[in-house]
Amino acid sequence: MDSFDLVVIGAGPGGYVAAIRAAQLGMKVACVEKEKALGGTCLRVGCIPSKALLESSHLYRQMREDAAKVGVTAEGIHLDLARMMGHKDEVVRANTTGIDGLFRKHKITRLLGHGRIVGPNEVEVRAADGSSQKVGAKRILVATGSVAAGLPGVEIDGRAVGTSDHAIAYDSVPRRLVVIGGGVIGLELGSVWGRLGSEVTVIEYLPRLLAGMDDEIAAQAAKVFTAQGMTLRLGCKVQSARTVGEVAEVVFLDESGNEQRLEAERVLVAVGRKPYTEGLGLEEVGVRLDERGRVEVNGHFQTSVPSIYAIGDVIRGPMLAHKASDEGVAVVDAMAGRYAEVNYDAIPSVVYTEPEIASVGKTEEELRAANVPYKKGTFPFRFNGRARAMNATEGFAKILAHEKTDRILGAHVIGPHAGDLIAELAVAIDMMASAEDLARASHAHPTLAEVVKEAALDVDRMALHK
Ligand code: NAI
Repeated sequence: MDSFDLVVIGAGPGGYVAAIRAAQLGMKVACVEKEKALGGTCLRVGCIPSKALLESSHLYRQMREDAAKVGVTAEGIHLDLARMMGHKDEVVRANTTGIDGLFRKHKITRLLGHGRIVGPNEVEVRAADGSSQKVGAKRILVATGSVAAGLPGVEIDGRAVGTSDHAIAYDSVPRRLVVIGGGVIGLELGSVWGRLGSEVTVIEYLPRLLAGMDDEIAAQAAKVFTAQGMTLRLGCKVQSARTVGEVAEVVFLDESGNEQRLEAERVLVAVGRKPYTEGLGLEEVGVRLDERGRVEVNGHFQTSVPSIYAIGDVIRGPMLAHKASDEGVAVVDAMAGRYAEVNYDAIPSVVYTEPEIASVGKTEEELRAANVPYKKGTFPFRFNGRARAMNATEGFAKILAHEKTDRILGAHVIGPHAGDLIAELAVAIDMMASAEDLARASHAHPTLAEVVKEAALDVDRMALHK
């Protein structure tokens, strides 16, 4: 039986990063993955393909609707969906094969098959053809991620009713698309198909979009998406959805509790994801799960079985690729006796709609609930020269700093390139910077980043351009 210092189960952004880090630190590493392509949900069917479609569909909308506003007129613009999907597939291929290359470079053994823990130091790998092998492991890392959650009464069949796995690969633009869930996936993929011509209706159970994000930002997002043509049905409860012939029928209770029916060529179910723990042998070997089915870990990502660790979507915390990667580095560093902390207050999250929505640290509601005294600075993109030049003036940046110490506690941006702008704010929070630190730092002109600087200045009512 082959034996390794570390056997990682799952080659997503948590697992593959952990495997590389472990190899860099001199460990003998194997990574078990049941899919042929490495990279997990993120690279194969999540972050990467959706970004390819978001970029392409944004370009299409810009060419049709925005280019003429700045004097660029074009005729005969039409959509070649098959080609757009081909580009997406090529982007996925380049990314996933890139991980193959990294595994070879770092001499990581790749085991193709379904991994199951059969002992505290043993993993069985079962291939698709039924054959299996066992490998020994000084330590095992569970990085199996998550799967789309279902909804009672909703029959996901991959025909008219499907998940994001299907919505990144529709073979035609649905005339009507109903999205169940006004969260990140619903708004991103709803945006893609809306830009390509679908009539999009989002049915959300809560009275607001983007649960957990700052209220003011979510309210602005709702306005923007409505103006873009999305129909938002907030505070509505889906009763059922199923394919009937060529279309889907959705039944839901509206804001007043009245039953409503909708027909649509496609329904996208995006009501969250749940940890993927089935068939892993966790319970049998004594790994404890918490009340929500997540693997329980201590501060160093160790489970109730000392030789078994877990990271990413399968444990507590936001289900984000970069959170999993950060944990992948930290868990291996902890194994090697190195400094190994993840600063959960400084993990940014980004919604890649247009405009983008990005957030890091505490929301205003969280600070209020915790009775933390804070100051708030805001600055709109419409006062920024670069945003005007780009004809992208929607949105604002908002910085929340401690009333007494001026330390930045939270930052939220809705606007062009918010996902890139948030990086500076995440670093600032990680380094415990004050709003004044950020305000005094030089920011190139003319850039969108000046919006962040101005919001920092505005914390002390010293914004220069408003
Ligand atoms: P989500 O948690 O972002 O949103 C799910 C939404 O569905 C919530 O607003 C919830 O209130 C709503 N909902 C729940 N039950 C419902 C019901 N019965 N009827 C109507 N609405 C209902 O989950 P989503 O969008 O499925 O994404 C899954 C995970 O993937 C999230 O944790 C997200 O962070 C992650 N993700 C992150 C991305 C990013 O960082 N850009 C992109 C895509 C996904």
